[in-house]
Amino acid sequence: MSGRALVCARLGGPEDLELADVATPSPGPGEVVVAVSHVGLNFHDTLIIAGTHVVRPEPPFSPGSEYAGTVVAVGAGVTSVRPGDRVAGNEEYGCARDAVLVRADRVTKVPGHVTDRQAAAILVAYSTAYHALVQRAGLRAGETLAVLGAAGGVGSAAVDVGNLLGARVIAGASTPERAESARLHGAHETFSYGDAGSAKAAIKELTGGAGADVVFDPVGGAVAESAVRAVAWGGRYLVIGFASGGIPRVGLNIPLVKGASVVGVFWGEFVRRDRAAHERNLREIFDWAAAGRLRHHVHDVLPLDQGPRALRELADGRVRGKLLLRTGGPAG
Ligand SMILES: NC(=O)c1ccc[n+]([C@@H]2O[C@H](COP(=O)([O-])OP(=O)(O)OC[C@H]3O[C@@H](n4cnc5c(N)ncnc54)[C@H](OP(=O)(O)O)[C@@H]3O)[C@@H](O)[C@H]2O)c1
Repeated sequence: MSGRALVCARLGGPEDLELADVATPSPGPGEVVVAVSHVGLNFHDTLIIAGTHVVRPEPPFSPGSEYAGTVVAVGAGVTSVRPGDRVAGNEEYGCARDAVLVRADRVTKVPGHVTDRQAAAILVAYSTAYHALVQRAGLRAGETLAVLGAAGGVGSAAVDVGNLLGARVIAGASTPERAESARLHGAHETFSYGDAGSAKAAIKELTGGAGADVVFDPVGGAVAESAVRAVAWGGRYLVIGFASGGIPRVGLNIPLVKGASVVGVFWGEFVRRDRAAHERNLREIFDWAAAGRLRHHVHDVLPLDQGPRALRELADGRVRGKLLLRTGGPAG
């Protein structure tokens, strides 16, 4: 048996990816094979195929770090799932294919009332946002949360999760239109930072001069250098990523005078180190999804062979919410 895989045969851009036929794997002890129906794409996939991410696999490999689908085979000793179970999971890469071979302890059963499409759209983005806001920032109801890149995958998830946690959410993006789209995820106020240096003034204005208790920043660069100056007394500045390409330089005088913290967030490492805590986070997120409380947005669902086009859209910052690939497995 064989299936299709999107393959990065040499490091480069999305256009360098190829579609190939690959043998369907057989599970070894402790492993399962999942017939994938949906793959969630993330900005970091564009960095991994370019060889500029901290995760640097040797080609050939498949991009894609989250999937949902149905278990089709289990290896010796696997009791946590069985063929027919609907599951979702995340790996560093390797998911953009019709079937994945993964460790059984890395898959999570998807509750019946959550679709594969939802699961693949929310797993990485919402888990990252939840871990950042709950475990890293300790966000409390009634606090003000400013989200940068709020129209993107993790940004829009942070708006949604912040709102569900009872924060007052102010959402920023590069254009007023992209910022406005964050209202769909529950943003109370929006601002745009077409001029990167304007982020500080906008956040200050929307907070009556006090600044935001928590800033969620997946953008980095000049926007970050401005926004970090708009953290409130005792605030937390969450370093999520650098989608703009620039690693910001921040003077340590800023956290000092604000009694504030600059807090790093590395969700993948958190999952590796504390799987049980990650599973608890995911359960609450799936509960919200099942109760119809999530306001996630799927930008588009493209067939697997359109993977290069999809990753180009992500690389160019044109996606709102999540972009998915539809693969060959049955969709639950
Ligand atoms: N720390 C962690 O554990 C963790 C986990 C997941 C993701 N991340 C990181 O979070 C960042 C966002 O990931 P994502 O999947 O949400 O990406 P995304 O959907 O593409 O969103 C990124 C946002 O960044 C902004 N942006 C500014 N300049 C950009 C540029 N030159 N190219 C692309 N986007 C640009 C865009 O919004 P505007 O143009 O409106 O500003 C866009 O909405 C990435 O750096 C990713 O590596 C970190």
